[in-house]
Amino acid sequence: METLTLVGCQFGDEGKGKIIDYLSKDFDINVRFNGGENAGHTVVVGDKTIKYHLVPAGFLGARTVVISNGVVVNLKKLVEEIEFLKKFRNNFDLKISEIAHVVTGLHFQRDSYLEKLRGTSHIGTTLKGIGPAYESKFGRYGIRLVDFRDRDKLEENLALLSKVYQIPFDGTYVDDLMKDYSKINRYLTDTRSYLENELEDGKKAMFETAQGTFIDVESGTYPFVTSSYTTTAGVTVGTGLSPKYFKKFLGVAKAYTTRVGEGVFPTEMFGPEADELRKLGNEFGSTTGRPRRVGYLDLPILRRAAKLNSLDYIALTKVDVLGKLNSVRVAVSYESNGSEIDEFDPTRTVDKINYESFKPWAEDSSKLQYYVDFIQDELRVPIVLIGVGEKREAIELNGKIAF
Ligand code: GDP
Ligand code: IMO
Ligand code: MG
Repeated sequence: METLTLVGCQFGDEGKGKIIDYLSKDFDINVRFNGGENAGHTVVVGDKTIKYHLVPAGFLGARTVVISNGVVVNLKKLVEEIEFLKKFRNNFDLKISEIAHVVTGLHFQRDSYLEKLRGTSHIGTTLKGIGPAYESKFGRYGIRLVDFRDRDKLEENLALLSKVYQIPFDGTYVDDLMKDYSKINRYLTDTRSYLENELEDGKKAMFETAQGTFIDVESGTYPFVTSSYTTTAGVTVGTGLSPKYFKKFLGVAKAYTTRVGEGVFPTEMFGPEADELRKLGNEFGSTTGRPRRVGYLDLPILRRAAKLNSLDYIALTKVDVLGKLNSVRVAVSYESNGSEIDEFDPTRTVDKINYESFKPWAEDSSKLQYYVDFIQDELRVPIVLIGVGEKREAIELNGKIAF
């Protein structure tokens, strides 16, 4: 049994999609285990751009792709995504957990309602009903795919949800849901048993999180987080598999930091410098198109991510973008309450940031190697892959990955 679990080390959008696509050909199975269509994982294939929202980003490389129980599924979006992806691969094998929860229109309305209720303290969610879908799951009034087997039962469950939210629904609403369900029900199965059998049979699987470590509902900058477990800890509950299957962990980190939505961002840049980096990196949300906030690389954040996720490896993306800046800075430690700290803690305020400066490397690759060596020495985690462009082949190897 060989598995690799891949997570985002910052606030999401680290370039996970590109790394998953690259690694997927080495795996039989690729599993997505959390989040929903709030995710946008980009892979650039020739002159075509694929943005995966619900389907695992290893769709083109792995033999089988699995959407496991930890994911919340918008049926309409899934149907559209499968139709779109068929253009790129027709002979795919997709499996979807029958106990995954469904995001309905009621959840969308609830998301907007809660954001409005928060006023100026809004989270800046993707408004895709994600928080409410997990809210109803944990509240035990959620809708699961398995509920669609019996229309009466589905209507009963929807009626309870509509009472809790005090939002009415009608029969056509159920018809639409059933129509979308009929297009995907052939993919439904007990993904936990399937994965367990495959792993026991010696097959190789890669597990992918959506989002990033610091928007994890437990370990992130609460309440400015998403509503799922985005760290490696989430892989067991998100798949139903025993922890014994998970031994190797890879974190994807962007060579600088970005964040979409509200919440603390210690190394955030503002003004023309930020605008330049946003433009160079094309930092606009893959799901909502919102401009991403941008900032310097933050080692205290990465140190915490390395520990929380037990990282064995790091993939560092977008060094090509950062190298185009005239000056490159990296946060090496913070000052907080009169003491120097070298690890990010979402509950502590950062009074000052200590930076180290680096020479840009657009013209000189030895300066890039110096930057990469510096980061991996500081984190004590090998950087094994380096992203040097948006195309799927723009990756350099910087060491060996064993899993
Ligand atoms: P994800 O959510 O972590 O999969 O990341 P996104 O796809 O939302 O955002 C990452 C963006 O950076 C996408 O537009 C990718 O095509 C792009 N990207 C990924 N790696 C690299 C890289 O090494 N260099 C450049 N220039 N772009 C990259
Ligand atoms: P990928 O997988 C970046 C952010 C939203 C918002 C917060 C809560 O592409 O890295 P939600 O809709 O989840 O309730 O929003 O989380 N967010 C992401 N930011 N990348 C993502 O996914 C994100 N998914 C959610 O912007 O701040
Ligand atoms: Mg993304």
